[in-house]
Amino acid sequence: MSTVVLGGTGKTGRRVAERLRARGEDVRIGSRSGTPPFDWEDPSTWEPALRGATAAYVSYFPDLAIPGAAEVVGTVAAIAARLGITRLVLLSGRGEEEAERAEQELIGSGADWTIVRCSWFSQNFSEDHFHDHVMAGELALPVGDVPEPFVDADDIADVAVAALTDDRHVGELYELTGPRLLTFADAAAEIGKAAGRDVRVASVTHDEFASGLARHGVPADVISLLRYLFTVVLDGRNASLADGVQRALGRPPRDFRDYARAAAAAGAWA
Ligand SMILES: NC(=O)c1ccc[n+]([C@@H]2O[C@H](COP(=O)([O-])OP(=O)(O)OC[C@H]3O[C@@H](n4cnc5c(N)ncnc54)[C@H](OP(=O)(O)O)[C@@H]3O)[C@@H](O)[C@H]2O)c1
Repeated sequence: MSTVVLGGTGKTGRRVAERLRARGEDVRIGSRSGTPPFDWEDPSTWEPALRGATAAYVSYFPDLAIPGAAEVVGTVAAIAARLGITRLVLLSGRGEEEAERAEQELIGSGADWTIVRCSWFSQNFSEDHFHDHVMAGELALPVGDVPEPFVDADDIADVAVAALTDDRHVGELYELTGPRLLTFADAAAEIGKAAGRDVRVASVTHDEFASGLARHGVPADVISLLRYLFTVVLDGRNASLADGVQRALGRPPRDFRDYARAAAAAGAWA
């Protein structure tokens, strides 16, 4: 088996690649820094990066919520199936219409599929845009008290690897959440406690949020994406727990507190 991991240096892809390599599987990274490179924005890179693989983990970038993402995922999935990739595992987003369209596109490829449909990643606080906010001691967010069942990227990778390597997961749609609903203020408190820092959430308007991100150097397209996510996806629609981790792995998901302690111990907010 040879697996191409699209987004293989990102928050989930890196963990998927590490786990597959630890099992002795042949793994190729499918991203702009891979060999050969894979670029979602350059269709000429798709075939060379997929050729020769038998399975693929599909983590789209920047987000399945962006217009046109579903069609691109569908095209890449169809190319993969034509080239002999028989198993596709899609990283999807919970409560996003566009992401659900991408799921249908991938399912239509004819390859065996598993959908891993996730809530917000805990690692957004330690490995992505919100890391800087944690370090600054303040998460200025337009969120209010809407709770989110943050999910751990390690759990996502465990489910993805199970789906890539075990036939029992073919045709399954797993909704992955953590075991607990937390507001962003709850999450900030957990991180603060684990990291030994003062971290608080300041409620801001959507415009103030966008200008704050711009001051941190976040690119304009990412700002508009985050704005969409905070306006649409964080409207309370995902304020419920799902059983995907338990169903796929036979064990409960990792709690946010354990994530925060492990990330702090690894120096994420040192
Ligand atoms: N973050 C969340 O909370 C969340 C929740 C639910 C679903 N999702 C879904 O998860 C997916 C990944 O999001 P993420 O936030 O976790 O990102 P991520 O995987 O951490 O993003 C970074 C990865 O994308 C690659 N990349 C960047 N630009 C690329 C391009 N033009 N072509 C190919 N690869 C590119 C990077 O590698 P190189 O720099 O080497 O190219 C790296 O491997 C998205 O589709 C999103 O919808 C995210």
